[in-house]
Amino acid sequence: MENTAEKKNVVLSFVQSSGTPTIANYFGAFKNWHGMAVENDCIFGVADLHAITVRNTPADLRRRSQEMYAWLLALGLEPEKNIVFLQSHVPEHSQLAWILNCYTQFGEASRMTQFKDKSRQHADNVNVGLFTYPILMAADILLYQADQVPVGEDQKQHLEIARDIAERFNGIYGETFRVPAPYIGKKGGRILSLQEPEKKMSKSDPNVKAFVSLTDADDVIVKKIKSAVTDSEACVRYAETKPGVNNLMTIYSCCTGKDFDAIEAEFAGKGYGDFKAAVAEALVEELRPVRSEFERILKDKAYIEQCARTGAERAEAIARRTVRKVMKKVGFYQV
Ligand code: TYM
Repeated sequence: MENTAEKKNVVLSFVQSSGTPTIANYFGAFKNWHGMAVENDCIFGVADLHAITVRNTPADLRRRSQEMYAWLLALGLEPEKNIVFLQSHVPEHSQLAWILNCYTQFGEASRMTQFKDKSRQHADNVNVGLFTYPILMAADILLYQADQVPVGEDQKQHLEIARDIAERFNGIYGETFRVPAPYIGKKGGRILSLQEPEKKMSKSDPNVKAFVSLTDADDVIVKKIKSAVTDSEACVRYAETKPGVNNLMTIYSCCTGKDFDAIEAEFAGKGYGDFKAAVAEALVEELRPVRSEFERILKDKAYIEQCARTGAERAEAIARRTVRKVMKKVGFYQV
């Protein structure tokens, strides 16, 4: 298990540029990325190709992709040491995805719950890209021979299909891809909607009160936490029947490092008003430095462009090697 100086784990993950990132992305993924970025060789990307599985206006997509990239820089992911880039800048992603399409069964892709959910949400645009989305994601991961993929729980099924595709390909052609493992943090792997705590928090939720976005001002964060749906028991305790309270306890725990027993003890005999005020304050303190770093970086367009260009060049050097190997194994005539 120990990392050696020669061989470090390759850690990889992406975020879609489908909206402003939320605290769900932050606690479910970004915080773990940051923690892993010090010890490992990491590759982090903005999944802008995935973002076009739903309709965007071109100017919005461009702005959101640039901003999402700036968020990755603001997280302190060290672009000089790690590779931080945009997916569409490296054509090998689409290239490998096509090949992997041919090694994925229609039936297994049909079982993806995210495809079923998104088909319901966007019933007027159930495009084939939405269906093959997990295969592009498998290409993202397998191109870089990733060992570990830090994600939230909602991506676990996509990781499983990436593993199945890798194993299937390796079974036919011999060892080609490293089989990746998901890494899901002990807490924060599933942050729920503040308004409907039976469903996950999502950056594309039409109800803006359902999520806290990383650009929300301090007073907006306080308001959103205060209006979070809880229950009528007025007792801060973790229980299956209390998804709204559990969610706020999780957020508080992610911010403070306190476990649920300590949180229950802290708020024993107090009502939800005190509890929500504490959660909001902890969240404001947690997000303020990242947001101000983001605002600083976003002003420096030349720095963003330079990092994105260098990141893409370094990513492509690795991706090209994998695609060449795959094409040779499959039997393409190469000259
Ligand atoms: P995306 O953009 O939806 O989310 C980015 C990361 O945030 C996590 N996340 C959550 N974690 C906890 N609670 C939630 N409610 C929550 N919502 C989102 C996600 O699990 C993810 O880790 N398909 C991916 C992007 C992607 C990718 C990849 C990820 C494309 N290629 C390769 C890993 C490896 C997605 O849409 O994430």
